[in-house]
Amino acid sequence: MATRSVLRPLLRSRQLPSFSAQRSLSTSLRRADSPSQPSNHERTTHFGFETVPEAEKEARVAGVFSNVAASYDTMNDFMSLGIHRLWKDHFVRSINPGSPNQAWKMLDIAGGTGDIAFRLLDHATNINSSPASTITISDINPAMLAEGKKRSLETAYANSPRLDFLVANAENLHTIPSNSIDLYTVAFGIRNFTDKDKALREAYRVLKPGGVFACLEFSGVTNPILDAVYKQWSFGAIPMIGQLVAGDRASYQYLVESIEKFPKQEEFKNMIQNAGFVVPGKGWEDLTFGIAAIHKGIKPIETKA
Ligand SMILES: C[S@@+](CC[C@H](N)C(=O)[O-])C[C@H]1O[C@@H](n2cnc3c(N)ncnc32)[C@H](O)[C@@H]1O
Repeated sequence: MATRSVLRPLLRSRQLPSFSAQRSLSTSLRRADSPSQPSNHERTTHFGFETVPEAEKEARVAGVFSNVAASYDTMNDFMSLGIHRLWKDHFVRSINPGSPNQAWKMLDIAGGTGDIAFRLLDHATNINSSPASTITISDINPAMLAEGKKRSLETAYANSPRLDFLVANAENLHTIPSNSIDLYTVAFGIRNFTDKDKALREAYRVLKPGGVFACLEFSGVTNPILDAVYKQWSFGAIPMIGQLVAGDRASYQYLVESIEKFPKQEEFKNMIQNAGFVVPGKGWEDLTFGIAAIHKGIKPIETKA
């Protein structure tokens, strides 16, 4: 992919400050929202097709992912006919993490059951001979992270210092120092966040200058005929599969509605730019006719004071 050649020289030229503060496993959620901010009971947002007070959304999303945690991986295969695996493989290849002479500090936000994180570590280790590269899998939902920890026991990274877990809201990563991360990934997570712009600003803050923001998310199908077929599948079949396989129609109804409400390619690219990132090329890569898209941004080397 074209972005790769743009990213690598930037990455090579960066300094690597210590990341020791992140080493410990955080198991509690901390809140650092200022009490003087306007009340989020008054502001509204989307929860799927419903309009809800911002203050309620986090708990509602938490409910969905607590419900689906145990069945999440199986359901992903059913819902996407296994295609999510190809998207995730491609996502990781396009990032091409790790380098032989530089350990990468990676942060997988909304990392859930670890699907992206394990791929990133495998790629850094096996393809780029970077055995010291590390990753923190962070998620707001302890139940999803618990599944990730369980899965990690079957990998080469079980109980290794290369992998740790952090329960945190992507909108407030205050335990992670500024300018400390080489690569920030978020896959199929950001559409669930209450304040996506705030999360993007946090991504910008924690990344080192030259660091890479990479997002894999459902997006907009550009061909209207294919879009109609896709919508028929997602709204018709997915909640029903959720009911049959996981006994939970409502959570899967939310998941397809949240896809529909998420900004499409161009708008999301603008949000990434507004957070301060430089967006290489067109700014995104469509996958499977735009059902999903990869967006990338680079934190500029020269940042404003
Ligand atoms: C669809 S799953 C994606 C998991 C994984 N990244 C993958 O690709 O398989 C979405 C995840 O986003 C997490 N999430 C939702 N809101 C969040 C927030 N505000 N901060 C961090 N994680 C959040 C959920 O708990 C859930 O684990």
